Amino acid sequence: MSIKINDRFLNGFISEKEINETKIKACAAKKTLLDGNGAGNDFIGWVDLPENYDKEEFARIKAAAEKIKKSADVLVVIGIGGSYLGARAAIEFVKSPLYNNLKKDTPDIYFAGNNISTTALTELLSICEGKDICLNVISKSGTTTEPAIAFRVFKALLNEKYGVEGAKERIFVTTDKARGTLKQFSDEAGYETFVVPDDVGGRYSVLTAVGLLPIACAGIDIDKMMEGAQAARACFREADFDNNAAMQYATYRNILLAQGKSTEILVGYEPYLTMINEWWKQLYGESEGKDNKGIFPASVIFSTDLHSLGQYIQQGQRNLFETVLNVKSTGISFEIPNDPLNVDGLNFISGKSLGYVNETAMLATLIAHNDGGVPNIVIDLEDKSAYSFGYLVYFFEFACAISGYILGVNPFDQPGVEAYKKNMFALLGKPGFEDMRASLEKRISKD
Ligand code: PA5
Repeated sequence: MSIKINDRFLNGFISEKEINETKIKACAAKKTLLDGNGAGNDFIGWVDLPENYDKEEFARIKAAAEKIKKSADVLVVIGIGGSYLGARAAIEFVKSPLYNNLKKDTPDIYFAGNNISTTALTELLSICEGKDICLNVISKSGTTTEPAIAFRVFKALLNEKYGVEGAKERIFVTTDKARGTLKQFSDEAGYETFVVPDDVGGRYSVLTAVGLLPIACAGIDIDKMMEGAQAARACFREADFDNNAAMQYATYRNILLAQGKSTEILVGYEPYLTMINEWWKQLYGESEGKDNKGIFPASVIFSTDLHSLGQYIQQGQRNLFETVLNVKSTGISFEIPNDPLNVDGLNFISGKSLGYVNETAMLATLIAHNDGGVPNIVIDLEDKSAYSFGYLVYFFEFACAISGYILGVNPFDQPGVEAYKKNMFALLGKPGFEDMRASLEKRISKD
């Protein structure tokens, strides 16, 4: 098994009775998901994706990645939410958060269109000056404002730099297979397109072209990633509760929520987990936070954040639990050097590996936070390989769906995301939003 739940640091926080009651709900939720008769069942294409993906498109993705690697110094990936977080998480996890600074034979990869920041856009434009650029614009709907603005800017840049015909060879679009203006425009312009399947929502789409193309461009083995997801699928579909990490995780977090622990903090002890944390926050926040329900997903990287949020976690409001993502092997070792003068008093750890000290920090923190009243779920993951990334993605997705069904929500929609968009369109003067505009302007005026 590539993932195992260690429940030792839940001792004293959850009872056998709670587990027995909630695991019945988890079993029912799993059946609902696999039978395809639950809420949002038109968005469960991701369940069988590791087996039933489009093999012809997969080969095209690899070919496009090779073309991009040959022709670009910089790949700009344009997308927001589920249309960028998974790819960025994979690159930082499998390669490095410092990927762009590594010596490599693959292009630098920058993510754009995931904010409306003037600074971020102009800095990236300046980084791109004098470089050969390819674009991968990713938007299922094809109408999301943030990536649409970035695409407008970078498309114009490429048209100017390479001419319309040259730019055509450098722009790759991942969107709905038939609907939407982006698909129509791309077909007319002659861009190569890849599909976000109809039945896969943005935050569940990392194993589709949405994630696969940028990930392959970073030189990550996407076959291995799919193998990991396949193994996870086989395990979580078939295994009983005692051998099913996804069911256990979904069960434990719902028990803790019922006890009033309404904030979950995903904890990593490696900076390469930062974007996994961000991807996970979207997956769980958008899937469960609705109908006035849900667990608020937060995240930290320790030991860094033990020096910022550690105080709150240890002694603040007791509505928290933590889930530690423990990557058991990073495949490298670094020995702490000896200092004959021992000015820092650290010779008691001379010769020990830094990994051992980090692991000890984790164990020490688990005990301290338990003592402070914070239950901890520990997820043990073998390593940071492409295979493990695929396995982990499927684990979190499967557990999220079960958890959402236990909670009694539709884990596959996100109706609340529309609220800010409508207000923004009205305030910006988009045609069709005139009535809303007047009432919103009244609410923000000082008089
Ligand atoms: O999970 C989701 O569905 C959202 O986060 C979307 O991924 C995000 O809003 C981007 O949407 P789109 O891909 O349509 O531009």
